[in-house]
Amino acid sequence: MAARIPDSKFQIPNSPLRILGLETSCDETSLAILEVESLKSKVESRIRLKRHETISQIPIHQRYGGVVPEVAARSHVPEVVSLLERAKVFKRDSFDAIAVTRGPGLATALRVGIEGARTLAFLSGKPIVGVNHLEGHLASAWLVPKNRRNWKFPILFLLVSGGHTELVLMRDFCVYEVLGRTRDDASGEAFDKTAKLMGLPYPGGPEISRRAAQGQAGKFKLPRPMLNDASLDFSFSGLKSAVRRVWDDLPASKKTSSINDLCAAVEEAIVEVLVSKTLRAAQRFKPRAVGVVGGVSANPALQTGLKRALTALGVKFLEPPRGFYTDNGAMIAAAGLWQLRRNGLKGSWRGLEAEPELDL
Ligand code: KG4
Ligand code: ZN
Repeated sequence: MAARIPDSKFQIPNSPLRILGLETSCDETSLAILEVESLKSKVESRIRLKRHETISQIPIHQRYGGVVPEVAARSHVPEVVSLLERAKVFKRDSFDAIAVTRGPGLATALRVGIEGARTLAFLSGKPIVGVNHLEGHLASAWLVPKNRRNWKFPILFLLVSGGHTELVLMRDFCVYEVLGRTRDDASGEAFDKTAKLMGLPYPGGPEISRRAAQGQAGKFKLPRPMLNDASLDFSFSGLKSAVRRVWDDLPASKKTSSINDLCAAVEEAIVEVLVSKTLRAAQRFKPRAVGVVGGVSANPALQTGLKRALTALGVKFLEPPRGFYTDNGAMIAAAGLWQLRRNGLKGSWRGLEAEPELDL
């Protein structure tokens, strides 16, 4: 491919427009190509995922009991290359713009995706947009066709991932207000850390959720941190300490037989706090719809609890984004589209940097 002069004026292609999304912020390497009728098109039904492939590093990090940043970054390098190769992005006109996660996330892991995307933008002469990973999670709900039909602002989101727990009011595309956030651990972290102290594999969320379905929550009494606090903030580190005390006090002979019950109690405590704070925010801000996104949104007890509470309140509950719960390139492409619609096709590969601490 001949190198063109970068930063030249980008031509908005006649329809369709294909956005390549690349995600490397943590332990998933993912690439997607999202096709829309045109940049200006508001016909939200005509969105197609032409390609979507994710390589999970979970088996690698399981050996260490959690994500090792340096290992994550090094693994992303060959994975990004093979995803780009398999998507045939070096073929002429295989995409029209690039969206890449610029933060938040692990600095070295973010840099792998950013440098790959910058190089591709430089070589292809195509525009690039740096995407906020958290906005990407919000956009994951929009990838569900039924949700696009019910997409009426303001929308309240419960954003629950491994690194974040936030209540976000989306007033328009790219316009957000963070109503509350965790003061210490994120809910995903609470699942992961409590699982680890019980000797369960990483990531803890799916493991606890699976075991919880076979246990009885009532066998253990755990705290509901900040449940009755008037703010919309969260706190989960006290819960982790309480689980550690319960676990340490259990005689060795009882640990194996009690683990499913303790998992059920952990899940119940986390879900109860998340559901009641979301409900409180919905009562206070009167959104036209409520959604849940991020890795923890895969949790069936959380989905059921939110649906029940919001239906009782008479507020539309958006479908949890099945297939897009955990980190993925499709949500980055979708958030990239939102940004490109707002700012036009003018992003340059110059000056795009990783922002590990980025917030909404
Ligand atoms: O959004 P995500 O893939 O990564 C970040 O951006 O952090 O979320 C990963 C988190 C992990 O903490 C994982 O334990 C949690 O999502 N998770 C779950 C479930 N599946 C994944 N937590 C509870 N129940 C699940 N079924
Ligand atoms: Zn994430």
